[in-house]
Amino acid sequence: MAKPQKKYVCQACGSATSKWAGQCADCGEWNTLVEDAGAVVTAFSARHNLQGGGRPILLSGLDSEIALPERMATGIAELDRALGGGFVESSATLIGGDPGIGKSTLLLQAAAKLALAGKSVAYVSGEEAADQVRLRARRLGLGNAPVQLAAATSVRDILTSFGGAAAPDLLVIDSIQTMHSDLIEGAAGTVSQVRASAGELIRFAKERGTAVVLVGHVTKDGSLAGPRVMEHMVDTVLAFEGERSHQYRILRAIKNRFGGTDEIGVFSMETQGLSEIANPSSLFLTSRDESVTGTVVFPALEGTRPVLVEVQALIVRLASGATPRRAVVGWDSGRLAMILAVLEARCGLSFSTCEVYLNIAGGYRVQDPAADLAVAAALVSALSERAVPVDSVGFGEIALSGEIRPVAHANLRLKEAAKLGFASALLPSAQATEPGTMKLAGFKNLGAFVDHMLARG
Ligand code: TYD
Ligand code: MG
Repeated sequence: MAKPQKKYVCQACGSATSKWAGQCADCGEWNTLVEDAGAVVTAFSARHNLQGGGRPILLSGLDSEIALPERMATGIAELDRALGGGFVESSATLIGGDPGIGKSTLLLQAAAKLALAGKSVAYVSGEEAADQVRLRARRLGLGNAPVQLAAATSVRDILTSFGGAAAPDLLVIDSIQTMHSDLIEGAAGTVSQVRASAGELIRFAKERGTAVVLVGHVTKDGSLAGPRVMEHMVDTVLAFEGERSHQYRILRAIKNRFGGTDEIGVFSMETQGLSEIANPSSLFLTSRDESVTGTVVFPALEGTRPVLVEVQALIVRLASGATPRRAVVGWDSGRLAMILAVLEARCGLSFSTCEVYLNIAGGYRVQDPAADLAVAAALVSALSERAVPVDSVGFGEIALSGEIRPVAHANLRLKEAAKLGFASALLPSAQATEPGTMKLAGFKNLGAFVDHMLARG
């Protein structure tokens, strides 16, 4: 039999090499290569792989043979929305997020709610003692929920404890990085251990019909720790995001085999745990009662859900010839550079001696390309010291030619803005005919928009 080859796996990106090195050749991270025991084929996994026998079945013959998987709605509407209706039986869900963002709190609340609704629920913590979890549950007012708690880090122990005659409906593993599988060697938290532990737990989910939820910490660069390798193994990946200094949290589906990935759940972290935010726009708009220069409200779209956020720009003219700073919080800095370039090249404005600061209020991160016009409006307003009317919103995508392009779901954005008391909108001319009560000012290109801003008193 051939001698097993040694393999070194980068704990940051998961790439493998046969030689150890101080720096990963793929992602450039230092000291991340760790010896990997490789995949181990056990008698169990071999048998499992043979069971299906690769027998083909007819796609069109399916509807009579299988029922749709059952969903367990947690009763936490924002969580159910992100999941596409609730946890699915026989499925594996990964919830990733920075340490301290509220993953344990959210899952404890969900577990308790399901248990109180009569489901059998188990919560395994590899990070906290069972008493600590109980104390937290009591603080959240959920002390009397019949959740089975365990503090364990051995996957074998967990599968033995919960693999009896009646497997739980929901099994929460907090966190996958603390789990240890004895199928392979290596310390908990390494890529190979995480992969093996996740693999065993996912197989348990498929075989026993349990909905397994894995908590995963993310690394400093924001990827699901090492476990990018895990993302393809699970059915659903949710990211729990937010600034720790701000109260709100967003739960975003990144992958969902049982639903869409464009819905978000919004929460705020209170002393009583996470509470649902049904109307997120109220959260991100600062109190607006006078016209301040450099601020424009942008109706962003998260899936089918509009969220109004405030774009703020500040321009500081430099006296000396020092290189001016450009700083962005909550938006893409490359995109800001592009908008500045278009304003300079197509509209005759000059930012070359100005420092430019751009901020999305409330710690929100905008990913929607429709924000271009709102950003340009904030920049022009800050530069010209003319305020955009306080009751207006702006959206539109800007091309390098300066053209203002239509965006998706203009009607949803306008409706939400109208609902929150906004009276007018700056938008692409192609969409200035949307029905509704708002006064619409359409622009074909950025030059026309700048002329409009500068012409105003
Ligand atoms: P936690 O759920 O432990 O985060 P994670 O599991 O993602 O690491 O929550 C961490 C923070 O949340 C902690 O710093 C305290 C805060 N918190 C509250 O503000 N209110 C609460 O009711 C709870 C339980 C936690
Ligand atoms: Mg935790």
